[in-house]
Amino acid sequence: MQVTVRVERSTGTASYSVDTKAQQTVLDVLFYIQNELDETLSFRCSCRVGMCGSCGMVINGKEGLACRTGLDRLGPVVTLQPMRHQGRIKDLVVDMGDFFSKYEAVRPYLTPRPEVQDPIVASPRSKLREAIDLGLECISCGLCLSACDVMTAVPEFLGPAALNRAYNLIADVRDDARDRRLAVVGQARSGVWQCHTHMSCVEVCPKNIAPTRAIAQLKQKLIVRRFMGHRERPIPKLQYIVKEGG
Ligand code: FES
Repeated sequence: MQVTVRVERSTGTASYSVDTKAQQTVLDVLFYIQNELDETLSFRCSCRVGMCGSCGMVINGKEGLACRTGLDRLGPVVTLQPMRHQGRIKDLVVDMGDFFSKYEAVRPYLTPRPEVQDPIVASPRSKLREAIDLGLECISCGLCLSACDVMTAVPEFLGPAALNRAYNLIADVRDDARDRRLAVVGQARSGVWQCHTHMSCVEVCPKNIAPTRAIAQLKQKLIVRRFMGHRERPIPKLQYIVKEGG
C-alpha cells in the first residue's frame, strides 16, 4: 500500500511517499524514512514494544505510541505531529522536562511510615492492591498530558500522569507523605480541581489506565479531609495489612 506520511517538522511540514508492508507500524515507517529518504528526520524511541513510552506523538490528530500503531488502520495519508503542551527539541522529539517536573512535584516515591517496619506483602486479589493495580502500569509516555484539554488554558495543571502517581501513593497504607501529597494535588491552580473529567487522557492511554478515576478519588479524599480532618484514615495495624493470599 502506498502511504503519504506528512511529518510536522521543526522546519515545516515534510511529505514522504512510502510503500508499506502488512503489519508495519508508524515507527517502522519512520525508520524507513530516516534510513532511506531523509536522515535528518528526528524522532525518539527505545524498546519498540510499547514498554518504554518514548515514541509518543500525535498520529492523525490523536495521541499514540508510534511502535504500537499499525499503519493498516490509518488510511492512505498519515500525519505525524509532536506531542502537545511540551516544548519541541526537534521534529517529533519533545522536551519532557515539564512532564517530569510535575511528576516530581507529587513526590513520586514511597515515604515509609516509621511504625511499619516489616515488608508488606499485598496479594494481587486484595483490596489494597486492587485500588492501585491498573495505575501502576504507567510508562510515563506523556500522551495523557498531551491530550489533556485543561493544559491549553492552565499550563500549570499537574496533569493526569502525576495525579495518577499521587493517588497510587496516597492509597498506599505504607506511605507517610499522604498529607504533603494531598496539599500539592489540592492546590487551586495546578491541582485536581482543574480537571473537568473530559476523559481525553483515558482515551489515549496505551496501558488502559484511567487517570480520571484517580483524580476523582483524590477529589473525594480532599473533600473528606476538608470536613473530617485526618480522622478518615486509621493508622494501619499489622493484622490489617494484607499478607499473601489475604
Ligand atoms: S519505542 Fe518504547 S514505547 Fe514505543
